[in-house]
Amino acid sequence: MATRFRRTVTAATAPSAAATGAARQAQSGSTTAAAEVSELTRTFDGRPVLDGVDLRIEAGEFVALLGRSGSGKSTLLRILAGLDRDAEGAVEVPVPVMVAFQEPRLLPWKRVGANVALGLDAPDPAAAAAEALGEVGLGGHLDAWPVTLSGGEAQRASLARALVREPGLLLLDEPFGALDALTRISMHDLVLRLWRRHRPGVLLVTHDVDEALLLADRVLVLAEGRIAHEQHIGLDRPRPRDHEALARSRADLLTALGVDPIGST
Ligand SMILES: Nc1ncnc2c1ncn2[C@@H]1O[C@H](COP(=O)(O)OP(=O)(O)OP(=O)(O)O)[C@@H](O)[C@H]1O
Ligand SMILES: [Mg+2]
Repeated sequence: MATRFRRTVTAATAPSAAATGAARQAQSGSTTAAAEVSELTRTFDGRPVLDGVDLRIEAGEFVALLGRSGSGKSTLLRILAGLDRDAEGAVEVPVPVMVAFQEPRLLPWKRVGANVALGLDAPDPAAAAAEALGEVGLGGHLDAWPVTLSGGEAQRASLARALVREPGLLLLDEPFGALDALTRISMHDLVLRLWRRHRPGVLLVTHDVDEALLLADRVLVLAEGRIAHEQHIGLDRPRPRDHEALARSRADLLTALGVDPIGST
């Protein structure tokens, strides 16, 4: 059985070809969730990488997903993005869903503003792109070529490209993984600011337990094809890294990841 996708369209999130990519699906009733996944299984060469995943992300909820390398995190994101239709189970997501990857994937032959405006379903795509780039501090780089941007700037442009489409679900696959420590910290602030303003549901894949603890409402661990552990983080943001409650959550998450929390500090 192929994946059963049900995508919900609201006036604020009308689909555009570029935003939905290959994931355009039957549009159906309404859901209050940013994503609803049940019994999701994905097998490669007879080996189940996802093995009955159940997951619900509430509208506007910020969820982080941890898991060992090869545990299936990107596979899950690709299915949610509609980029992989060969899974079994049910997936319900809003339209559009947008993805930002570790590498920003800007088209090198288009200027930064044109990259953000590309395929945008708006009355004035160029103006909308300029506003989105302004929001991420790149208002002065509209006419720049992608090759001239630093890694952090390119990642900010990629976020602007995603958010200008007002996604109901924003998928982030290790978006800060290639950035230096200082740039990562400013990207964390930026992502929180943008999330507060646009309020998409977010699924952030990261290897960085502290990043998950600082940003997310809920942190999940994917192991053996399922969501094996879940941790709610009830603290207000911004969160002090050395908060006692975070230290406890960190230890629990490291244990769920199979890492000795004492030996790792
Ligand atoms: N198209 C594919 N064909 C065959 N195997 C695949 C394919 N895509 C993923 N896999 C396998 O599925 C498993 C999960 O891959 P995935 O990329 O989802 O892991 P991940 O959790 O994102 O890992 P990482 O943290 O290293 O990015 C891996 O063993 C990978 O080799
Ligand atoms: Mg991955």
